[in-house]
Amino acid sequence: MRIEATPHALHLFFCTNTRGNGEKSCGDTPDTAILADQLKQRFKQAKLPVRITRTACLGPCAQGPNIMCYPQQVWYQDVKVEDMAAIETSVNDILASLPKGLSANMDPKPG
Ligand code: FES
Repeated sequence: MRIEATPHALHLFFCTNTRGNGEKSCGDTPDTAILADQLKQRFKQAKLPVRITRTACLGPCAQGPNIMCYPQQVWYQDVKVEDMAAIETSVNDILASLPKGLSANMDPKPG
């Protein structure tokens, strides 16, 4: 085993979970899946050190659809496709708030 620093300044987890039993879940709408695809492309074009991952349930289903920003402890809740610009602005603000040089040492390949 090796222990190393993550190469990403921040990691966005897009809940796309579906239950199929009538309980609310983020995957009830396609919004988080669409946002994951579109933001991945935008961050890739901008060469930002941001990792994007689709995930199963993050916990607060009733407030969803949810996106979690780690390790900055930011939740985007009740997101819709039309929130893309606001999320992008928020991510850029988070990156700008990081200590100088922190993200410069990280792999710029978004995933
Ligand atoms: S289904 Fe998305 S947080 Fe639970």
